[in-house]
Amino acid sequence: MEKQLEELKRSFCSDLERLSKPEDLEQLRIQYLGRKGRLTSILRQMGQIDPGERPRMGSLSNALKTFMEEELSRKIEDLGRREPAGEALDVTLPGRNVRRGSIHILNQVLFELQEIFLNLGFTIVSGPEVEDDYHNFEALNIPEHHPARDMQDTFYFSRDVLLRTHTSPVQIRVMETSDLPVRIIAPGKVYRCDSDVSHSPMFHQVEGLWVEEGISFAHLKGVLYEFIHILFGPDIPLRFRPSFFPFTEPSAEVDMGCISCKGRGCRVCKNSGWLEILGCGMVDPQVYGFVGIDPEQVTGFAFGLGVERVAMLKYAIDDIRLFFDNDVRFLSQFS
Ligand code: DAH
Repeated sequence: MEKQLEELKRSFCSDLERLSKPEDLEQLRIQYLGRKGRLTSILRQMGQIDPGERPRMGSLSNALKTFMEEELSRKIEDLGRREPAGEALDVTLPGRNVRRGSIHILNQVLFELQEIFLNLGFTIVSGPEVEDDYHNFEALNIPEHHPARDMQDTFYFSRDVLLRTHTSPVQIRVMETSDLPVRIIAPGKVYRCDSDVSHSPMFHQVEGLWVEEGISFAHLKGVLYEFIHILFGPDIPLRFRPSFFPFTEPSAEVDMGCISCKGRGCRVCKNSGWLEILGCGMVDPQVYGFVGIDPEQVTGFAFGLGVERVAMLKYAIDDIRLFFDNDVRFLSQFS
C-alpha cells in the first residue's frame, strides 16, 4: 500500500506539471481526490492490511491528500497569474443590463386617485378584506333575502364570514367608531365569484363617504366633478343617471363623456357616447340607524368606484386580466 501511495504521488505530480488550462484542474482533482477517485480506491484496501500497519498508512494517506490539495491550489494561483490580463477581462464588453422595476399600473392609478381626494380634504382609511355578513350586507340595508345579494356573487368562509364584495362595509366601520364629521376614502381589494374580460375575482375599489351637518347632493356633484376633471381633463361632461343601491337614497350612477370619441359614439362606449364610471348617492337614513347616528342631525353622501375600470378607461386597456397576469411586456409599458 505504501508503494501504491508513492506511485500515486508521482503520477499526480507529473499530471499536474503537464496541465496548462485552468478548466482541466477540476478534472484532475476529481480523478485523484474525488469520491470515486484514485486515492479513495487505494484506501478501500485498508481493511485487508495488517492492523498494526493501519495507523501509519492512515497518516501517510492523509498527508498525501493534504499535499495534493495544496498543490492544486498553488497551481490555480499559478495559472491565474500567467493568464494575460487582456483575455481575462474584456473592458470593451457592454455592461450587463440591469432591469429596473416600476410601480404597478394599478398602484399608479390608485396613488393618483388618493392624491386627488387627499387634496379635497379626505382622509384615507382601510378595513378588513375578510368581513362579516353584518358589515358587508346587513348594516348596508341589504337584508338576508334581498336580490342585491345575488348581484355580488360572494365567496363565503361560513354563513357569517366572507370576503368583502365591496368597500362599502368600511363606511359602516368608520361610522361605528368615528366622531362626526366623517370625510374618508377607503381603497382596497374586493372579491366576487366572477371572471371574464371585464370581471376579475379580485379587484380594487375606492369607497368615499362624507357625513356632516348640511351635506347635500350638490356637495356630492361638486366633489365628483372635481375628481373626474382632475383625472380625465377639465372638459369632460358628466351625467347623473338615477339608479338604486340599498344603502343610498337617492342613488345615481355617474357616466362621463367617452374619452375615446369625445361623445360621438365608438366601440369603447358601445356607441352611446358615455362611459359608466361610478355609483353614488345620499346615505340612506336606514344605514344611520345601524350605526347610531341621528339622521335628523346630519346628512352625507357616499360613492364607490372600480380602480381597474378607471385604469382601463384612462389607458385604453381592454382586458382586466392583463393587470394580474404579471406579463412584463404589459407592465413595462407603464414604467
Ligand atoms: N358598493 C357598490 C358596488 O360595489 C358601489 C357603490 C355604489 C358604493 C353607490 C357606494 C355608493 O358608496 O353610494 O357595486
